[in-house]
Amino acid sequence: MREKVIAWLKENVSEHRLQHILGVEKMCEDLAIHHKIDPKKAAQAGLMHDLAKFFPPPKLLEMAKKEYNEIDPVCLANPHLLHADVSAIVARDTFNITDEDILNAIRHHTLGNPEMSDLSCLVFIADALEPNRGNTPELEKMRKISYKNLHKSVQKTCEYSLQYLIKNSKTIHPRAILTRNWALHQVKARS
Ligand SMILES: [Fe+2]
Ligand SMILES: [Fe+2]
Repeated sequence: MREKVIAWLKENVSEHRLQHILGVEKMCEDLAIHHKIDPKKAAQAGLMHDLAKFFPPPKLLEMAKKEYNEIDPVCLANPHLLHADVSAIVARDTFNITDEDILNAIRHHTLGNPEMSDLSCLVFIADALEPNRGNTPELEKMRKISYKNLHKSVQKTCEYSLQYLIKNSKTIHPRAILTRNWALHQVKARS
């Protein structure tokens, strides 16, 4: 299965993106072992999280519209955000993934989702923090948090992404804020 997915990725994403994907796969597996989450499921979700990363916007919109009755206006204006949902569609339809926890982890890797599972938290975090993302002191600090507290790590990852979006005048999807507030609440409730 892994070889089949990698062969498909080699045809459909850049070499640079493939390295990122393999970095996410490895970090998902490492974090899963550490947090006692199924490492096989985590690695599979990591390997398949960006399947649709290079699909052109019309294809993303077409596939998402076929799957969902409605596409929210932010995604309609920024179809690239749909690559997470469409990657889950490809994982299901091309690679026969039926495990909803894996499919949700793929779906939620960009914006997160309030109430997301620990597996989804892992993929969300690893997507932002895998080693190819860089070695700034801020990222290193966030990597340490990812091994200590999953929800705190989601909160910090959200805040890091939101700051990037504001600094670069990019659209913020409201779900990214809902995810951050949910993670913050989880941290407070569990401490
Ligand atoms: Fe992605
Ligand atoms: Fe990614």
